Amino acid sequence: MAQPTTLRVEELDDRVVVTLHRPEARNAINAAMIRELHEVCAGLEDNPRLLLLTGAEGTFAAGADIAELRERGRDQALQGINSRLFDRIARLPLPTVAAVDGYALGGGAELAYACDLRLASPGAVFGNPEPGLGILAAAGATWRLRELVGASVAKQILLAGRRLDADDAYRLGLVAEIVPGDELLKRAHSLLDRMSRNGTLALKLTKLVADAPGGHPVTDDLAQAILFESEDKRTRMDAFLAGERR
Ligand code: COA
Repeated sequence: MAQPTTLRVEELDDRVVVTLHRPEARNAINAAMIRELHEVCAGLEDNPRLLLLTGAEGTFAAGADIAELRERGRDQALQGINSRLFDRIARLPLPTVAAVDGYALGGGAELAYACDLRLASPGAVFGNPEPGLGILAAAGATWRLRELVGASVAKQILLAGRRLDADDAYRLGLVAEIVPGDELLKRAHSLLDRMSRNGTLALKLTKLVADAPGGHPVTDDLAQAILFESEDKRTRMDAFLAGERR
């Protein structure tokens, strides 16, 4: 990919680490960042790896770029500029983790909601202040947030401007863990290390089936049928039975 201007991207063998990097605008998501995140997605679709997403300088992302939003009209809304990107991220073949330090507001929160797992620093704040700007949180908050924290809390956030601090987010299950800011990335990498030790095909199919809109248990049985025939399954089970523990 061409050198991104709004992201810092570190490509490793089993994972890609992406840092949203527009600190002068609190990492607000603008058109260039959207384009560059699509490029990251294309790379991960071609060569599936885990994704660790974080933000620069003590902020995850303060939302979509309000200067750009102000100029958008009906036709741009119908293009689903943010929602299509976040859907693409949600559908990436292997798990994604958001490491949230500081504000994750508006589209920034929706980007974190689109990831499979979230870790937070004690200073993390999640919120969807869109109605205060006269618009709707249209890129996932009305459906993903409801699935993540339930309809009642989602409506408190969406309709009454409730913000979740790290403790709230942990208690509600939105984040897996609260980690001191200076250890956040290290802990996120440990989480990815743990996931990375799993069978890759098993992870892919588990994610695909867990996010499938319906059809359980048929989808589960079909995915399991593929995994039961895999060499990886035999190798891993043989190792377990031979007394090797990971
Ligand atoms: N879009 C565009 N620019 C943004 C932005 C956004 N979503 N969020 C912050 N910025 C810019 C500010 O305009 C400011 O620019 P300036 O230095 O040229 O004036 C700069 O980032 C720093 O923001 P500031 O508000 O001074 O930082 P802060 O640390 O005091 O507050 C926030 C941080 C996140 C609480 C505050 O910036 C904020 O409320 N942002 C908007 C959040 C929002 O409504 N998001 C939903 C968008 S849909």
